[in-house]
Amino acid sequence: MLPALIDLPVSAKSDFDPADMTAGAASGTPGAGPVQTLYAHLRVHPAGAGADAVAWLHGQLAQARALDDALPVDLADLEQWISAQTAQVGAQYRSYLGERKAGAPRRYFASRSHALHFLKAVGPTKLVDGAWLYGTLAHWGDARFLGLIRTYLEELGDGVPAKNHVALFQKLLDTHAINDWQGLDDSHFVQGAIQLALAHHADAFLPEIIGFNLGYEQLPLHLLICAYELNELGIDPMYFSLHVTIDNADCGHARKAAQAVQALLPQLGGRAAFVRRIRDGYRLNALGASTLSVIEDFDLEEELIAILRAKSRHGQNMHADYCRLAGRSINDWLARPEQIPAMLAAMAKGGWIARGQAAEQSRFWRLLQGTHATMFGVFSDYEQQVLRDWIEDAQVQPARLVSHRAQMRAIEQLGGVSARPATPRAIWRHALQASAGAASDLHLLEQHIAELPDKAAAMDTLRQLMAPQLHASPVGLMATRLFGRLLAL
Ligand SMILES: [Fe+2]
Ligand SMILES: [Fe+2]
Repeated sequence: MLPALIDLPVSAKSDFDPADMTAGAASGTPGAGPVQTLYAHLRVHPAGAGADAVAWLHGQLAQARALDDALPVDLADLEQWISAQTAQVGAQYRSYLGERKAGAPRRYFASRSHALHFLKAVGPTKLVDGAWLYGTLAHWGDARFLGLIRTYLEELGDGVPAKNHVALFQKLLDTHAINDWQGLDDSHFVQGAIQLALAHHADAFLPEIIGFNLGYEQLPLHLLICAYELNELGIDPMYFSLHVTIDNADCGHARKAAQAVQALLPQLGGRAAFVRRIRDGYRLNALGASTLSVIEDFDLEEELIAILRAKSRHGQNMHADYCRLAGRSINDWLARPEQIPAMLAAMAKGGWIARGQAAEQSRFWRLLQGTHATMFGVFSDYEQQVLRDWIEDAQVQPARLVSHRAQMRAIEQLGGVSARPATPRAIWRHALQASAGAASDLHLLEQHIAELPDKAAAMDTLRQLMAPQLHASPVGLMATRLFGRLLAL
């Protein structure tokens, strides 16, 4: 029998089925490319995408095989390799800080809208953070997998909403209203689709997962710089700061990744082929859009034009005929999207936009903001930021610095949430409080777990609720907490 984890009344047979949690079909996004479509299917109906996902992943591996990797020749040297890499990143970051102190501009984000665009464009990857390790949960009884499983649980914040990486990133996207995929091409979905495909085919791709994890969990320089510059721009850097500490090379995910290689290498035959596949998995990290390519690809004016083009589809019939610019009606300007650059130029020439000055000085801006804003609500916060930065000519935004120490304090406070000893009853109570709206789901889970015959059955049910598409929900978070408790027993 299960240990007395949950001692609430057991009802008659429950009809709880984890598969029900995936209700809501993958909504097809108009204009989505094949990778985005696969990504959407894997997020919502992973079982239905099985054969397609495996075939696609083989194709990605074939591409990855053609790339170089930075791993040591002998994987027995991994630990020293990680230490050397970390020392190098530390030195590069110190030199970056020195440059900034001496007055150098931000290295990554020219403006606040540039940073927000970055967050939006890496969203498809960050919203499946940790997914590649999901399939390892099935091996909870095998001590060799514990490092990878602990890493997955930590990606899920051990079931604490404020520490769940996916929930944290979702909150960031929601806060800035950048939670749509509009304008993102297929390359932005490659990393997320790889991670989801690995998640649901772990037994077929175990060496690749070990290698992918090894690459993903190393501390990169860009993580440190992103955290620093987001903070400067008044954007919560917590998601990035958290990874600086949790992926550390001393006892964090980077070290666990190296230990997993040693633990899972076959002892008898097939070692060379296994190592080759680990290297292929490591190289998968280099495919698709990356942090740096996303940052480099941003062009403020192009982004503004893309936003206005998208608006013109709905706006071309919404303006009265007396709304005119350079002798033509606004509806006429908007009727052909390719006219948008000329329309912007006409707005600047006609005094509607005063470039290089605070946005509030522009008549057009006052149509969006203020007491007589006839176009209030037409542009989202992000879109207004793009417009503002373009009008102001990407003037540096006033920095709202939070000290590094304050950031670290906030992370420590988060750590305190999980460090507090929790009784099973307290875990249960906390889960129930997590969302009143989800109370019936939580109740069903409670009934179902209590009825199961043993720990193996409970772990099997709980891990299904910890799938990438579920774990940030109230029920998924509770399942994560229970799984972690049972794992330790
Ligand atoms: Fe993470
Ligand atoms: Fe990590």
